Amino acid sequence: MSDKEESRKTDNGNVTMPEITLSCAAKRLLTWYEENRRTLPWRDDPSPYHVWLSEIMLQQTRVETVKGYYERFLNNIPDMETLARFPEDELLKLWEGLGYYNRVRNMQKAAIRIVDHYGGRMPSSYEEILSLPGIGAYTAGAIASMAYGQAVAAVDGNVLRVCTRLLLRDDDIGKESFKTEIKKVLEDVIQDVDGKENRDKSCAGALNQALMDLGAMVCVPGTSPACIREGNEAEDGGGCACPLSDICRAHALHREAEFPNKAKKPDRKIEKKTVLILSCNDRILIHKRPETGLLAGLYELPSLEGWAGRKRVLSYAKELGFNGLKIEILPDSKHIFSHREWHMRAYMIRADELSADIPVTDKDENFLLAESEVIRNKYPIPSAFSAYREYL
Ligand code: ADE
Repeated sequence: MSDKEESRKTDNGNVTMPEITLSCAAKRLLTWYEENRRTLPWRDDPSPYHVWLSEIMLQQTRVETVKGYYERFLNNIPDMETLARFPEDELLKLWEGLGYYNRVRNMQKAAIRIVDHYGGRMPSSYEEILSLPGIGAYTAGAIASMAYGQAVAAVDGNVLRVCTRLLLRDDDIGKESFKTEIKKVLEDVIQDVDGKENRDKSCAGALNQALMDLGAMVCVPGTSPACIREGNEAEDGGGCACPLSDICRAHALHREAEFPNKAKKPDRKIEKKTVLILSCNDRILIHKRPETGLLAGLYELPSLEGWAGRKRVLSYAKELGFNGLKIEILPDSKHIFSHREWHMRAYMIRADELSADIPVTDKDENFLLAESEVIRNKYPIPSAFSAYREYL
C-alpha cells in the first residue's frame, strides 16, 4: 500500500473520502498527539513502576480521580521494594475509594515476585510482564511500549472505540478474539511506521497514548464525539478536532454513535442489606470481611441480610453484647458493583453498655470496636459504605 491520499467511494456509494494507509493515519495521530497530549503526572517520568501503577489505577477509574490517588500512593510507596513489603491494611487504606481492591493486592504479589526474581526491576519482555499477577494484555502492552519503547499495542476501551469507528467494525468489543485482532492490526502499523522512520525507540508508546487521548478528548462515547467541532467539552477541554475525521468510516456515514458494539451484560443481582452503625462510648463496631470473595479482607459495618425491621436489629445488637439501646433510622443507600447491587437500609444504634469488651459471636471472631478517628485513619472501609461514613 502507498501513503498517497486519493478519493474513493465508501460502502454506501454516496460519500467520497480519501483513502490513506493506516500507517499514514498513525503518523497524523502522532503529530496530533505531540500538539494536544494531556499533561498527566505519570507522563513526566514514565518508569516501568510509574506506568504500571497508573495503568492499574486507570482501570475502572477516571483520569481526574486517579491523579490524586497516584500522587499519594507514590509519596507513601515510591518503589517496587517498598511495595513488596508494605503492610496490607495500609496498602488497602491507600486504595480506599478506588474499588476493585484485588488490583492492588495483585500489584503487591507481582512486586514480591519482581523483587525475588528480577532484582526489583520490572522485566522488559512483553511475555514476562504478562506472566505477572494482575497484568493482562493491555497493561503488559502499556508497560512494554511506554516504559521500554517496545513495539507493542495496548488495546483498551478508548482504543477500541476509535478503531471500531475508524474501520466501521461492529464486532462485539467484549470478545477477546476481536481485541487480539485489533492488537495485531495496530502492531503491523507500528512496525511499518518504525521501519520507515528508523527510530531506536518504537512509536508504540506515543501511538497507544495518542489513541487513548483521542478517545478521551475527541472520539468520546455516545452521540456527540467532537470530530469536527471547534472546541470540545470532553475531559480535558482543548479546541481540537479529530485528525482522522476525513478517513473515519463511521463519521462519513454519521454513524459514530453506533460504535463500539458491546454485548449487553446480564442484569446485576440485587441484594438487600441492613447496615448497622453500632456504637458504645465513642467506639464503633466494625467487621473484617473474609479473605476471599467480594471486598476480601476489607472492613465493613456489620450488616444483616435483607431489610430488617427494628425488632430484628435490636435483637442482633443484643446478641453482639450491646445493651441499653437507642435506635434511629438512617437514609437508605445503594451501591453498584460490576455484577451486583447492594440496596441498603441502615440504623444507628447507641448502646449504654457492653457485656464484653470485644463482641465475639460463636460464628465469627472478626469484629472489632474502634474510635471513629482510628477507623478513618487505619481501617480500609470500601466505598460501598460511603453513604454512612459521615455517621462514623
Ligand atoms: N487511560 C489509560 N491509560 C492511560 C494513559 N496512559 N494515558 C491516558 N489515558 C489513559
